[in-house]
Amino acid sequence: MTGVSEVRGRVAGKRVLVTGAARGMGRSHAVRLAEEGADLILVDLCEPLPGLEYPLSSREDLEETAELVRKQRRRAVTRVADVRDADAMRAAVAEGVAELGGLDASVANAGVITAGTWDTTTPEQWRLVLDVNLIGSWNTCAAALPHLVDHGGSLVNISSAAGIKGSPLTTPYTASKHGVVGMSLALANELAARNIRVNTVHPTGVATGMAPMSLHGVLSGPRADLGPIYQNALPVQVVDATDVSNAVLFLVSDESRHVTGLQFKVDAGVTIR
Ligand SMILES: NC(=O)c1ccc[n+]([C@@H]2O[C@H](COP(=O)([O-])OP(=O)(O)OC[C@H]3O[C@@H](n4cnc5c(N)ncnc54)[C@H](O)[C@@H]3O)[C@@H](O)[C@H]2O)c1
Repeated sequence: MTGVSEVRGRVAGKRVLVTGAARGMGRSHAVRLAEEGADLILVDLCEPLPGLEYPLSSREDLEETAELVRKQRRRAVTRVADVRDADAMRAAVAEGVAELGGLDASVANAGVITAGTWDTTTPEQWRLVLDVNLIGSWNTCAAALPHLVDHGGSLVNISSAAGIKGSPLTTPYTASKHGVVGMSLALANELAARNIRVNTVHPTGVATGMAPMSLHGVLSGPRADLGPIYQNALPVQVVDATDVSNAVLFLVSDESRHVTGLQFKVDAGVTIR
């Protein structure tokens, strides 16, 4: 294996936790960070969640991400854990840190979405989405922080364009992603004295397995009037996962060493509309 001293890249030798790493943007972040010299702790639930209208990833998906990291000659530790479970997250991260010899950054990326009009949105949807997206991001930060407080580090929390604007028909999701911003700003203030930076990333649409088909049904039918809110300013329908990973890479790297409390939009201008 390549020794740390020989590693080249923008995050050479850094050890980074990524949640929701089995597929989609989580996989992209892990691979992009590995390309630039990072070792990874990869966490995912790897099973379906009742109440979602699309399937989540599998253990095979998580192993495939690990293989892609290893192809870059970087180390990958995988753990199956639910970000809603604070104890499981603490244990998973502690085991990964023991194997990699430390931690430098975390990327709270795991997330879920439900869609519906105000009169079809249920308390169960609210609890599920807030539990995964908001409390799950907190649990991820809380599991990472004990390993960062002595030497500093970077927390990157994945929000959304819906964490900046009032994206309709996904109200619990929109609220959860605004919540991620508030949580991150509060942590950024509290942890700055420890040299720990906390930033959020706000993607517009990316084609992944997170596919709430009912949203498209409502937007192309009874609430077509709301469609323009989802329209990017730049002439692209969606951005690539790698576009978002490049923002994550910058925030994990020392290139952003004096950047904290930033809401980093990779949104093709959807939030300026
Ligand atoms: N796809 C988009 O258009 C888009 C746009 C803006 C923001 N985002 C955000 O980007 C992040 C990644 O989304 P994606 O598009 O790659 O989605 P995805 O559904 O493809 O991947 C999400 C991953 O998180 C995992 N996961 C879900 N719940 C979990 C839990 N409780 N514990 C651990 N792992 C869990 C899933 O198994 C899956 O592998 C999410 O936070 C999402 O809200 C996505």
